Amino acid sequence: MSRQSLRYFVSALERAHPGEVVRISEPVDLAYQTQALALELERRRRFPVLIFEQVRGHSIPVVSNVMASRRGLATALGVGEVELPEEYAKRLKEPLKPIVVDRPPFPVHVQRGDGAVDLGALPIPTYFPGDGGPYLTAGLLTARDPATGVSTAGFHRFQVKGPNRLGVSLHSRRRMFEFQQRAEKAGRSLDCAIVMGLHPAVGMGSLSYPAPEISKFEVVGGLFGEPMQLRRAETLELDVPAWAEIVIEGEILPGVREPEGPFGEFTGYFSRRSTDNVFVARAIVLRQGAWFQSIASGRAPDHILPLGVLREAEISNALRRVVPGVRAVHVPMSGGASFTAYVSIKRTRPGEAKHAISVALGVDHYLKLVVIVDDDIDVFDESDVLWAIATRVQADRDLVVISGSLGAILDPSASPEGLTAKLGIDATRSFGEGGAEKLVMSAEPMAWARELVDRIARA
Ligand SMILES: Cc1cc2nc3c(=O)[nH]c(=O)nc-3n(C[C@H](O)[C@H](O)[C@H](O)COP(=O)(O)O)c2cc1C
Repeated sequence: MSRQSLRYFVSALERAHPGEVVRISEPVDLAYQTQALALELERRRRFPVLIFEQVRGHSIPVVSNVMASRRGLATALGVGEVELPEEYAKRLKEPLKPIVVDRPPFPVHVQRGDGAVDLGALPIPTYFPGDGGPYLTAGLLTARDPATGVSTAGFHRFQVKGPNRLGVSLHSRRRMFEFQQRAEKAGRSLDCAIVMGLHPAVGMGSLSYPAPEISKFEVVGGLFGEPMQLRRAETLELDVPAWAEIVIEGEILPGVREPEGPFGEFTGYFSRRSTDNVFVARAIVLRQGAWFQSIASGRAPDHILPLGVLREAEISNALRRVVPGVRAVHVPMSGGASFTAYVSIKRTRPGEAKHAISVALGVDHYLKLVVIVDDDIDVFDESDVLWAIATRVQADRDLVVISGSLGAILDPSASPEGLTAKLGIDATRSFGEGGAEKLVMSAEPMAWARELVDRIARA
């Protein structure tokens, strides 16, 4: 079993943290139940990988919640939770070219051709009452740039519309959106493959923002610390992750748009905004005994945590180039792990906090609120951040507003074309000001209190 496979990850996680993989042998319905279980566990602050062994009407198991915890994402990089931010940020800067293996590294079954392809063979869940139907949520879409040949990969939602037809939304308007537009302008389909059942490092690399000449699979190689293994697709001139459990090969049609949605999105709202593209499947390639991967939808951590952790790494890499005193970056779940960032810095120069605001807001067009605090504030404690805003901010001095900027189409407060205003808050103390003295208890009484509380808890 390669260390680049989903199965390897699940067994490594289970070995290191036995409670973090839960097998459900009770029969489950594809309508809502996989999502409901993830939500109930989240309510109890539990985020294990879930393996649904018996899905009613199907023999393929469903694996979910693979990217739902920082502990899991750290295990994916082979480090502890504390090292995750630094290590992720560092490895993003060390891309490695992938290698292509001759054959799939396990037996595969291929459904090929119009009549033979049947998406109904897959256990595809419906997540929320109100969704437009069953959705593939863990489909990593990969394609090559029609202009340069550089490949990309990213998660996109896919609505089942027929045995070989899927609606797809490219609303994040990044590489795939660009590639599809280029192919469409030339009157051509965009050949692409939907890849499912992947080691989380593949997803973590796919969310990154590399330079245009670097493929996402090169970034994944950097995360693995070894070249990523790819295999040739069965029906396309395209390389796909060698260890994928399921690959759906096909094309996005040029000049065709059909309504797609609604879908329960990361914003916490049903989204009807979509690019309304159409994907037609030409082949389905299943590993023998395949696992079907699902990503819990809406604001579930499986969906949004990897977005936040990636943004933390990208913001800290961008800021470190210009602000040497960056201490920590938190992209909280309260902002959909997309819209909000808290950054703590140790300032050495006047104006550094405002400078940091403009750099951080520019890292990614989804970010629309950046709060810069001093290094005595814990950015992972939102009440500490709000306290800094309450006691260190004067609104007529410390706010930066940019209107009419590129934003997220799915943000319901943005215009339908995705125009948004952005806000930066400088919540640092005025530079050089002695100011009010912060309440701090000295170490000795704190050590006494800690020892007393420990003793009472043991008694
Ligand atoms: C679980 C998940 C689902 C996502 N769904 C979509 C989607 O439906 N459409 C989209 O444009 N971006 C979606 N994203 C964000 C993209 O995957 C991300 O922006 C990616 O880097 C885009 O890849 P690209 O550069 O190849 O376009 C999703 C991200 C995650 C983690």
